[in-house]
Amino acid sequence: MITGLDHIAIAVPDLDAAIQRFMTDFGLDYEGTEEVEAAKTSTAFFPLPPTSIELVHPLRGEGAIAKYLEKRGGGIHHLCFRTDDIEADVARLKDKGYIFTSDAPTPGAHGATVIFIHPKCCDGVLIELSQPAEA
Ligand code: CO
Repeated sequence: MITGLDHIAIAVPDLDAAIQRFMTDFGLDYEGTEEVEAAKTSTAFFPLPPTSIELVHPLRGEGAIAKYLEKRGGGIHHLCFRTDDIEADVARLKDKGYIFTSDAPTPGAHGATVIFIHPKCCDGVLIELSQPAEA
């Protein structure tokens, strides 16, 4: 079941500059940066209860975020819904015809398990489902 808006992610070409903006200019708490090998991203999180802002940047200049930045520059990249049972939600949505960008959930930031719904199924919006490690 989807239980909340986990985070909103922004793709950024210059991670350090974007961290400074959110931390210093906007005054948000900076939780730190994490490399997510499975997604080929460096992510920086700024908790803004009950949700978070995630900055995403390509790891080693590779992967889907690198292609996104090349095509469009920075921008809002995805919304993430928190779920308490990702397998059940994936099965339910697959039954309804939703297409996912991977066959099965993969490791995300913070030890969460994540999967992305193809944007063509959601009016062009990329939606991530994330089950927190402790759930
Ligand atoms: Co995300």
